Formats: sequence, structure tokens, C-alpha cells
Amino acid sequence: MALLMIMVLSYFTAIANSQVKNIFLLAGQSNMSGLGGVVNNTWDGIVPPECSPNPAILKLDAKLQWVEATEPLHADIDANVTCGIGPGMPFANSLLNKTSLLGEVGLVPCAMAGNRISQWQKGTFLYNQLVMRAKAATVQECGVTRAMLWYQGESDTTLLSNANAYKGKMQQFFTDLRSDVGIPDLLIIQVALASGTNFTDIVREGFGVA
Ligand SMILES: *[C@@H]1O[C@H](CO)[C@@H](O)[C@H](O)[C@H]1NC(C)=O
Ligand SMILES: *[C@@H]1O[C@H](CO)[C@@H](O)[C@H](O)[C@H]1NC(C)=O
Ligand SMILES: *[C@@H]1O[C@H](CO)[C@@H](O)[C@H](O)[C@H]1NC(C)=O
Ligand SMILES: *[C@@H]1O[C@H](CO)[C@@H](O)[C@H](O)[C@H]1NC(C)=O
Ligand SMILES: *[C@@H]1O[C@H](CO)[C@@H](O)[C@H](O)[C@H]1NC(C)=O
Repeated sequence: MALLMIMVLSYFTAIANSQVKNIFLLAGQSNMSGLGGVVNNTWDGIVPPECSPNPAILKLDAKLQWVEATEPLHADIDANVTCGIGPGMPFANSLLNKTSLLGEVGLVPCAMAGNRISQWQKGTFLYNQLVMRAKAATVQECGVTRAMLWYQGESDTTLLSNANAYKGKMQQFFTDLRSDVGIPDLLIIQVALASGTNFTDIVREGFGVA
């Protein structure tokens, strides 16, 4: 009897979990859009195994429809540049590999090549698009926004004034975003900046990863 209860409970746990779409916002610069396999503005079309499509990995496309996610994930969002392989698909695949009860992963691509943190402040095109897409991702179906993956900052490393302003602008962006999407404790996973020019260390200090 006890065993049966456990089986019934695990059954319902599995159903409950599998109905939830686990939503992840993807934002930042070209490295989040995806440059992998792009040479001379042409993508080589090679999809590594960790970036393979999976029926459980969806993306919110430019028309705000959930479709099965395929590389290049950002092609219809960062449409003015040639996109390639980015971090979104390997992230989703490794989540699914680690957690069998996760259900679906819903990726919301919002990154764009070549931008400074000032272009993500409340009221800008990129900010408005991110908030609009984040809201669209949750209204359409049963979904829970789990985190935003953020990889940005290289363009703020060239001028000292931009580098010095980075930390404050980043914190303001995160505060406004959490408020506007209505998730005060939204988890934000930052990639430590791996490339930059003159003042990379100052921008990295803003992340708390100097
Ligand atoms: C990030 O993108 C820039 C080009 O925008 C490139 O030069 C740099 O190598 C990339 N960084 C990483 C860690 O891939
Ligand atoms: C990219 O373009 C440069 C200059 O046109 C050329 O020398 C190079 O061979 C090209 N690389 C590839 C991989 O096509
Ligand atoms: C993409 O390019 C078009 C044509 O130049 C321009 O109107 C549009 O604003 C660009 N989009 C973005 C997001 O920069
Ligand atoms: C997930 O597991 C599959 C099958 O074992 C494997 O082919 C794939 O490379 C794994 N992906 C990641 C991101 O670990
Ligand atoms: C920063 O680096 C760029 C090249 O990336 C250079 O042209 C510029 O003069 C440098 N600025 C300062 C303030 O060091």
C-alpha cells in the first residue's frame, strides 16, 4: 500500500513537472546570439551534438510562437548579422540531460550583436523587446521563468567612462527588469566577460568576478 502511494505520488509529480515549461531568457551581445562556426559572415552549418535539436527544447520565435529550437537560435532575432552556434542550445541540452523530470525547456532569444550596457537600460529598444518577449513567453502557456542568461560587456571595455559606469548601469538594468517582468528574485546567470579591449578588468569588477 505504501509502495503504491509512492508510485502514485511519483506519477503525479512527473505529470505536474512535465506540464511546466521552464523558461530561460537569453540576452546580451554577439557571444550570446552565437558566433560559433561563422567565418566571413557565413555560418558553416555544423551543429555539434550538444547543440542538437530535441522535441523538449522550444524557442519563442520572432513572431512570439513556440517552435522547436534549432541552431542558429538567434537567426530571426539578431537578424541583421550572421548568427551561428551560441550557448543556448548546449545549456538546454545539458539541463535536460541532468534532470529527467524537468519537462520542456523554453528558450527566449533576445541577444543582439555589438551593444553597450546603456542600450539595455529601461526604455531602450533592446530592453523593451526583452520585457515584451519575457511576458509573451509566460502568458501563452503554463510556463515558469527560471532565469536569464546574460553575456554582455565587451563594448563597454573600450572607454574608461563606459567601463566605470558599467556596474551601476548593470544593477539598474537588473532591478528594472525584475520589476517589469514581475519576478523580484529572478535568477540572473552571468558569463564572466572573456574578451574586451582597454578596460576589461573594470567591467569584470562590476560583475564581482575580477
Ligand atoms: C565574443 O565575441 C567577440 C566578437 O564580438 C569575439 O572577438 C570574442 O572572441 C568572443 N568571445 C568569446 C569568449 O567567444
Ligand atoms: C575569409 O576572407 C578572407 C579575405 O577575403 C580570405 O582570405 C579567407 O580565406 C576567408 N576565410 C574563409 C574560411 O573563407
Ligand atoms: C536592421 O537593419 C534594418 C535595415 O538597415 C534597420 O532598419 C533595422 O533597424 C535594423 N535592426 C536592428 C535591430 O538593428
Ligand atoms: C546529452 O545526452 C546525450 C545522450 O546521452 C548526448 O549525446 C549529448 O551530448 C548530451 N548533451 C549534453 C549537452 O551533455
Ligand atoms: C582603447 O582601445 C582602442 C583600441 O581598441 C584604442 O583605439 C583607444 O585609443 C583606446 N582608448 C583608451 C582611452 O585607451
